[in-house]
Amino acid sequence: MDSGTGATVREGKAAHPDGTEIDPRHWWDALQAAMHDAGGLADVSAVAVAGQQHGMVLLDSDGQVVRPALLWNDTRSAPSAEDLVAEVGAAELAARCGSVPVASLTITKVRWVRDNEPENAARVAAVALPHDWLSWRLRGFGPVGESPLGPDLDQLATDRSDASGTGYWSPAAGSYDLELFQLAFGRTAREAGSPRDGAVVLPRVAAPDESIGTVHPSLFNAAPDGVRLAAGAGDNAAGALGLGAAAGDVVVSVGTSGTVFAVAEAPGSDPTGTIAGFADASGAYLPIAVTLNAARVLGSVSTLLGVTFDEFADLALAAQPGSAGVVLVPYFEGERTPNLPDAKASFHGLSIASTTRENISRAAIEGMLCGLAGGLEAIVDSGVEAKRLLLIGGAVQNPAVQAVAGQVFDVPVVIPSPGEYVARGAAVQAAWMLAGSRPDWPLETAPAPASDHHPEILANYKAAAGR
Ligand code: XUL
Repeated sequence: MDSGTGATVREGKAAHPDGTEIDPRHWWDALQAAMHDAGGLADVSAVAVAGQQHGMVLLDSDGQVVRPALLWNDTRSAPSAEDLVAEVGAAELAARCGSVPVASLTITKVRWVRDNEPENAARVAAVALPHDWLSWRLRGFGPVGESPLGPDLDQLATDRSDASGTGYWSPAAGSYDLELFQLAFGRTAREAGSPRDGAVVLPRVAAPDESIGTVHPSLFNAAPDGVRLAAGAGDNAAGALGLGAAAGDVVVSVGTSGTVFAVAEAPGSDPTGTIAGFADASGAYLPIAVTLNAARVLGSVSTLLGVTFDEFADLALAAQPGSAGVVLVPYFEGERTPNLPDAKASFHGLSIASTTRENISRAAIEGMLCGLAGGLEAIVDSGVEAKRLLLIGGAVQNPAVQAVAGQVFDVPVVIPSPGEYVARGAAVQAAWMLAGSRPDWPLETAPAPASDHHPEILANYKAAAGR
């Protein structure tokens, strides 16, 4: 992106496998492929990495990954989350680190490794997250023999937003809760750069506008005078930065995960666990509610019906708001908000007359968005002002999703022009670091769906979901 205007100059893409655990090497390969696809770094001044939150990257003292990373959508550590809540208490955990841990949070994953893979736990020398591991690799650090600078774990760095998703970093205090990490993992920890004493290394938490180093010149044909690397961010915080979200904005993102969040001036702490009190990437805070069942719900139901995504939209738009009483509670992958890791999806309200492809299609969209509307209600109830709702994510280009959003949400919906807002947020951060002040790039928007609120859709959904 052009740091002055915010215009996209070049872009590149590469996929990595999906799933709930993955060898981080696939991210590194995909990042390199995407960088080459985007034309390399020869004329680039600065970069930042934004990525999925919470994924647990365990490193040994040789910089090798100890086991495949357990990702945000892996629910095997749900019993570990229950154990931590029983041992410490939900209210105390929320007060100490902003969130009541659920299976997504890194703290429950390290506890799971402690309890289920003691040999792996004993090998752990550092715990990183996807974006900070990639930033470390970009700077030239990595496993012995596979990286120009080797495994200097004290060079690991992250940012506030991603640190706040671990469950052992406190947004309110701005520091790690090392006691909580030790309670979870059974070993002491220290922040990278502090005196070395054999404790597990956690990445240093850099400031929002800080440079954490430069891309190693042997990689990506990097510019000879150095490509500076900003701290990076978790994907939701980067999305907020990319949209320029400010007071009065709430963001709903419909991607692999569904998220609803806002930028807030003060740290949050919700002992019910509905809202996670993360930090953002600008120095403020990011109250957020996250669902595990979002865009893939639509993929699954359109595959079931044997239709393309466009045909699926036509079917949904042909049904009436409320889908003639058909409700999909879309907990296909278990659910995180509400915390029901073992739940499964269910259809409700099917009669002979209402069981049509049109109603099933619309019910899929309504159910997916109602899950997020519940999160929005909780965020508004916590005192966040919602004057407009910025709707982003891959699924949002579907016209039926836009139309149904205008019916489910009781806040005017704005559709930013199609774009990669998480990547744009990383670019905002890199430009901020270069200029020393936050860029104010214009946000282009597409025509908004009509505001046509149908409160009965959410009411029926809540009745079917038993909430
Ligand atoms: C946020 C969350 C997801 C991931 C993947 O808490 O778990 O949004 O960041 O996108």
